[in-house]
Amino acid sequence: MDIKVTTSAPQKQPNACLVLPLHSGKKLTGKIAKVNERCENAIARAIKRGDAVSDIGNTLILHELINMSSERVMIVGAGESGKVSRTEFRKICTSMANALCDSGAGMMIIQLEKSLFLKDEKAQWYAQTLAQILVNSQYKFTRHSDKKEPPARLKKCFIVVEKKDLRTCTQAVKSGVAIANGQSLARDLGNLAPNICTPVYLAKEAQGLAKSNANLSTKILTEAQMAKLGMGALLSVSKGSRQDARLICMEYRGADTKKKPTVLLGKGITFDTGGISIKASASMDEMKFDMCGAASVFGAMRAICELQPKSNIIGVVAAAENMPDGDASKPGDVVKTMSGQTVEILNTDAEGRLVLCDSLTYIERYKPAAVIDVATLTGAAVVALGKVSTAIMSNNDKLADALYQAGQITGDLAWELPLWEEYQSQLDSNFADIANIGGSPAGAITAGCFLSRFAKNYKWAHLDIAGVAWKSGKEKGATGRPVPLLMEYVLNNA
Ligand code: BES
Ligand code: MN
Ligand code: ZN
Repeated sequence: MDIKVTTSAPQKQPNACLVLPLHSGKKLTGKIAKVNERCENAIARAIKRGDAVSDIGNTLILHELINMSSERVMIVGAGESGKVSRTEFRKICTSMANALCDSGAGMMIIQLEKSLFLKDEKAQWYAQTLAQILVNSQYKFTRHSDKKEPPARLKKCFIVVEKKDLRTCTQAVKSGVAIANGQSLARDLGNLAPNICTPVYLAKEAQGLAKSNANLSTKILTEAQMAKLGMGALLSVSKGSRQDARLICMEYRGADTKKKPTVLLGKGITFDTGGISIKASASMDEMKFDMCGAASVFGAMRAICELQPKSNIIGVVAAAENMPDGDASKPGDVVKTMSGQTVEILNTDAEGRLVLCDSLTYIERYKPAAVIDVATLTGAAVVALGKVSTAIMSNNDKLADALYQAGQITGDLAWELPLWEEYQSQLDSNFADIANIGGSPAGAITAGCFLSRFAKNYKWAHLDIAGVAWKSGKEKGATGRPVPLLMEYVLNNA
């Protein structure tokens, strides 16, 4: 889809749909009032009949209105003028995008009118959000079928803005499209079958990304190399699997090498059976999504390559498969981590923290300005915050707040859980420095506490995305979260 920002609607409008927000109130104002006049009150009549309503996200397409240069006019409910919240604006865009995709329109035109804006929000936020939602609405997973999908009908979008906003909105649309493209990659990787998407497959994906981007290079560690570094925890997870683990590092250099990088670290368990502490069979297929943290790091790196920010960003993915086997880790096994701390593996299903802890030690070599790990780490995070919000845990209040704010701005919501000292003793072990589980109370927090022991030498935040990374049921599939949140953080703070 090609999205263009202009200051006036295009002259030629073949197979187009003009989108008009409808606010509540008796009188039509702004663009929709002008159009209504031109088409001899057809819109006012549709409102009177009750077909067009101002409720947020309601849509109605009218065809072949008199005197109009576009064949379709879509009226989309936009609530109260000047009082549309960010969440409501996203709803409006989503309904509009879905209705457009269902229609035969090949082109759409929308004017970003003042009536849609909140007082303290700039035009560029609206342009970026709209672009991102438009691209996202066309996502389809097709990698497992040779059947040719018909191409999307909607090919061109014009966003009309005021002259003073043209430059910033053009840049904002670029960002929105790049972020949506990153999300598409994250969704694709998440949705791929676990017999295809293995640690080695992910390593190849990284190399492919580096091949087409001059600023990106990769370093990929094999199991032998990780053994040399003493990554006993990470290797204890892949031990029972026929699939070799990989530690995948993607290094994006957009600034002077002296500038400290931001490191994004993703949990990449390409399938989590639980190992010897095996999971129940029901819905176990969904544990192919246990690499969605890694997928979001890939998505962010792709968006970063597209936008070329002047900063240094390292994407690291800890990729392994967790399987039961004669050689798999057992409950009671003790392993030595790269940090020197020993871990008693009381439950082989708490494997995410085992691959992450050695990765957290490994990335010290980058001397990071900040580290953000992203992981589908605990069912407890889903219990705590549901499928709405990511859980943030951090050793730095400013970093936690920046991530919370990024969630507010993008709608990719995140909320902080405490990592208080008082929780740490739940990880005490009788036989090693630390146990890999902390009992059922505060399960998301004790997982965070476990990671915190390996993240003492830099600013660090942990994002538990177990609730938000994918949807179950009829809509089963990866969401591409938290790529928008990560990108909002990276573009403003890195
Ligand atoms: N990948 C799972 C977490 C998970 C479970 C995410 C269900 C989304 C839905 C993780 O590896 C895991 O199994 N965690 C255990 C930890 C427990 C053994 C301390 C869990 O949450 O049950
Ligand atoms: Mn597990
Ligand atoms: Zn897992």
